[in-house]
Amino acid sequence: MLIKRPNDIRASEITDESVYWNRRDFIGTTAGAAVAAAMPFVPGFVRAEQDEKLTPYDAVTSYNNFYEFGTGKADPSRNAHTLRVRPWTVAVEGEVHKPKVFDIEEILKSFPTEERVYRLRCVEAWSMVIPWMGFPLGSLLRAVEPTSRARFVEFVTLHDPEQMPGQRRNVLPWPYIEGLRLDEAMHPLTLLATGLYGEILPNQNGAPIRLVVPWKYGFKSIKSIVRIRLVSEQPHTTWNVALPHEYGFYANVNPDVDHPRWSQKKERRIGKLFKQDTLLFNGYAAEVADLYAGMDLTRYF
Ligand code: MTE
Repeated sequence: MLIKRPNDIRASEITDESVYWNRRDFIGTTAGAAVAAAMPFVPGFVRAEQDEKLTPYDAVTSYNNFYEFGTGKADPSRNAHTLRVRPWTVAVEGEVHKPKVFDIEEILKSFPTEERVYRLRCVEAWSMVIPWMGFPLGSLLRAVEPTSRARFVEFVTLHDPEQMPGQRRNVLPWPYIEGLRLDEAMHPLTLLATGLYGEILPNQNGAPIRLVVPWKYGFKSIKSIVRIRLVSEQPHTTWNVALPHEYGFYANVNPDVDHPRWSQKKERRIGKLFKQDTLLFNGYAAEVADLYAGMDLTRYF
């Protein structure tokens, strides 16, 4: 990315995971009713990473990449208050039998929210473990009935330089665009997230709705989505267009394929002191490796 090496976050800046468990207790109490009503919560907490500590809430919400609000890690939490997340619509269109413009409230009501703890590995060699709230993207795609010509899915972030001051600078071609192959998009791990840590998604994390694809570098997980288009050709995605030799369309986490400017073998888990090994597909190989059977991952990086 255009950014320099990640800054480390001092342990003293980080609040404890216990804050989260207290927040979870809070949901379901009378005081938590407003949160629960705004975001239907399906019990049956899916904790995928039993053995890993959650990245503290404060780090998840203050150390971000969201270039629409600046290129520094602290910029989104400082600046994203100008984003207006209501009213908000998401157009789902293209190669589908039933195109539809969804109101965000309808999305929240129609697709039951689950909690999923996923690792997020940024291409800049840091990572977090985040309890997301959301629902499988596949549920939304099935609702609009893809045609037989649909092979890829393109996602588009809001384009409004008035609300997103970073878009007044040409650091990237705007709006931010991402894409998945249709089978990747339909994979049960692929989430549309509307919250984290049991709360509505903070603006800096991509409110009101963002993608989370846990086996890919974080830049695939596009924020503040306004359009989802099913298409027959591979979409032109922002980072791939900006720097094609550095950022491929697939962007699967792979310790054996270095970024041209740095190694991808290790990562720094935010809040931890020592680096750790990066795992193929970010540790989700058992679930997703089949999608890439027979593909040369050094070519399709
Ligand atoms: N989406 C948009 N619209 N703009 C961005 O700059 N940054 C990406 C991704 N989604 C980005 C985006 C990158 S590089 C990462 S690592 C993740 O968001 C970071 O998500 P987080 O801040 O919630 O951890």
